[in-house]
Amino acid sequence: MKHLLKMLDLSKEEIIEILNLADQLKYELKHNIPHPHLQGKSLGMIFQKASTRTRVSFETGMYQLGGHPLFLSASDLQIGRGEPVQDTARVLSRYIDGIMIRTFEQKEVEDLAEFGGIPVINGLTDFCHPCQVLADLMTIREFKGQFDGLKMCFIGDGNNMANSLIVGGLKAGMAVSAACPEGYHPDKRVLDFAKDFDCFELTDSPVKAAQNADVVITDVWASMGQEGEAEKRRKAFQGYQVNDEVMAAARADAMVQHCLPAHREEEITEKVFEAHANEIFEEAENRLHAQKAVMVKLMADK
Ligand code: CP
Ligand code: NVA
Repeated sequence: MKHLLKMLDLSKEEIIEILNLADQLKYELKHNIPHPHLQGKSLGMIFQKASTRTRVSFETGMYQLGGHPLFLSASDLQIGRGEPVQDTARVLSRYIDGIMIRTFEQKEVEDLAEFGGIPVINGLTDFCHPCQVLADLMTIREFKGQFDGLKMCFIGDGNNMANSLIVGGLKAGMAVSAACPEGYHPDKRVLDFAKDFDCFELTDSPVKAAQNADVVITDVWASMGQEGEAEKRRKAFQGYQVNDEVMAAARADAMVQHCLPAHREEEITEKVFEAHANEIFEEAENRLHAQKAVMVKLMADK
């Protein structure tokens, strides 16, 4: 594993290895056991979109690993003035040991990886959000003990989160269902991957998707960069809400995950959100541990 660009690139074994290391790093942090695997290493963090969790968890995680994080706002870099990503990659790789990038196009991340020669971590694109899904898988395993026999259900926009959850959930060994309205289905590359799994279902019915689910997951209706479509999307996603009706279809002990930020009373009701807040905020915490594991895997002893 040279980069973390998308869940489609990872094998089940690689996913489990990352999750095992993440559990170990979480244990070490909680027990004040130092783990300076990245002493002397620097991570450049390029942000073309806003962030709370991704920025703070990468920055803190790098510090805890003994390394040095650099926050690089795209508006301050020459990339924001049109310097090609290929040139940026070739320059940065002479200064730093790894790049985390949050941007719009998946191609930009893939180009950075191709031209840079140092590990690249995708911190969210319009296509996918692998760091978030590794944290989600870590949280699911923490609460449920294993993946086998579980059903994960996604309700809402077939966007970056749905794309990564479907691939990550199926690779981890869960059954996966997704309820998305017409016109907002997951990416074709993801559906092509999922079509070989009997345990994958795409429907337009949230209640059907949630039937007997062990994990119910949703995401915002209008993602970053889609603010101008918010009103149109609010209409399109009516009924695609994680609420009491959906939770009644799921198993009685079903857990809820949300990558955050959440829009209460849109994709999830306040009631369901607060009833599952402990799972949702553990998921947010696990960003830290899962990403530290990714950084160690990609950047230690290189
Ligand atoms: N879930 C997530 O990626 O959060 P941020 O946008 O705050 O980084
Ligand atoms: N789908 C959301 C996820 C935020 C973490 C977005 O892209 O804005």
